[in-house]
Amino acid sequence: MKLWSGRFGKETDALVNDFNASIHFDARLYKEDITGSMAHATMLGDCGIIPQEDVAKIKAGLTEILADIEAGKVEFTADNEDIHMNVETLLTQRIGDAGKRLHTARSRNDQVALDVRMYVRREIPVLIDQLLELERVLCVQAKENQTTVMPGYTHLQRAQPISFAQHLLAYGSMFARDITRLEDCLVRLNECPLGSGALAGTTYPIDRWHTAKALDFDRPMSNSLDGVSDRDYALEVMSDLSILMMHLSRFSEEIILWCSWEFKFIELDDAYATGSSIMPQKKNPDIAELVRGKTGRVYGDLMTLLTVMKGIPLAYNKDMQEDKEPLFDAIDTVEMCIPVFANMLATMRVLPANMKRAASQGFINATDAADYLTKKGLPFRDAYTTVGKLVSYCGEQGKLLEELSLAELQTLSPMFADDVYEALSLETCMGDRNSYGGPAVSQTTRQIEDIEAFVAKR
Ligand code: ARG
Repeated sequence: MKLWSGRFGKETDALVNDFNASIHFDARLYKEDITGSMAHATMLGDCGIIPQEDVAKIKAGLTEILADIEAGKVEFTADNEDIHMNVETLLTQRIGDAGKRLHTARSRNDQVALDVRMYVRREIPVLIDQLLELERVLCVQAKENQTTVMPGYTHLQRAQPISFAQHLLAYGSMFARDITRLEDCLVRLNECPLGSGALAGTTYPIDRWHTAKALDFDRPMSNSLDGVSDRDYALEVMSDLSILMMHLSRFSEEIILWCSWEFKFIELDDAYATGSSIMPQKKNPDIAELVRGKTGRVYGDLMTLLTVMKGIPLAYNKDMQEDKEPLFDAIDTVEMCIPVFANMLATMRVLPANMKRAASQGFINATDAADYLTKKGLPFRDAYTTVGKLVSYCGEQGKLLEELSLAELQTLSPMFADDVYEALSLETCMGDRNSYGGPAVSQTTRQIEDIEAFVAKR
């Protein structure tokens, strides 16, 4: 017998039973469901809506059920549809009529809205902790590589020299924003939907502030229809996770490139790479590839729920039961990706000589040659054109800028002097880029300090 079977003259068709049920994916909400029910029962008792003896029985019963679920002693059934009805049915089986009073002034609509909200609220700090650990790993690697020169790229063409630390710290800044985005989400979602009822509140003298406070919410949600209708907090966390995965995916792509023989800037630890079943020489960056691949999955989860929500009228509609699988999948996926990615970074071996070799080719110091002439008084545009000609000349001669003789340099500009070779050295080009946010050691030191302070504050 279903809890809602009152008006029905027939049993639900077996196919419908399975189709309608959500217990196989919402069972994980058991703790939120029980915690919410305890607060609701306490409020009902304190407001004189149900007798205090019943409240005591409900609480004792729920405590027992929670312990039994955690001990693996409870079997949920699709006949009871979802976690809310499974728990309530169990309670009534155990304590009798008092159990039947629990659902006074409540609907599964505000119950499920509460449970999912509390679930997201519990998982966000887990995600933030994982990201903070990733930040710590980045800072350690950055500290070791402040003078490791590498080519910085635009269009995947060698552009200007940077340090490996500067490259890593770019991601450090991105992940810091990912953390604050999740923190923002936490602030907005912390309003309590319980007491919204099915959609229109209730005629019982409930106290929504009582339950909101008991459940650590800042306040009850202002509008009962909104309370049961919106899933924006789930969409918001999935949007934040999609942006985070986009960052992880770009980083993964670079790890994959850097491991290739074409780059060979890093070598992954054997524990964080895999082999091929046929090609004995292979060492593949599967972890980074999987993180890149799983990004598509998280975007898909977000798109699923956006699409589910886009055309449904207020208030609750069963479509909204489809919120849980993508939400759980997105959170589970990201929670798997961050720690493995952080460990992969922590254990990778950096190959500075290869980075430097790559930085020595591709005229990465051409901007510096132009800046050299500009600092001697030539307008930057003219200096730019002169160096363009030099690069083209070098191309014909098969030489680098710093391999040209002073006489060759001076045929294009008499302003070139002996000090040009110093100005063109990679160390100068990287080390003198000390503008705020640049790759010079003074700046990467400041960036590391900023990230460390950000982490320490949390
Ligand atoms: N299992 C349902 C869900 O996840 C709970 C709410 C059901 N409400 C209803 N009116 N059928 O959305």
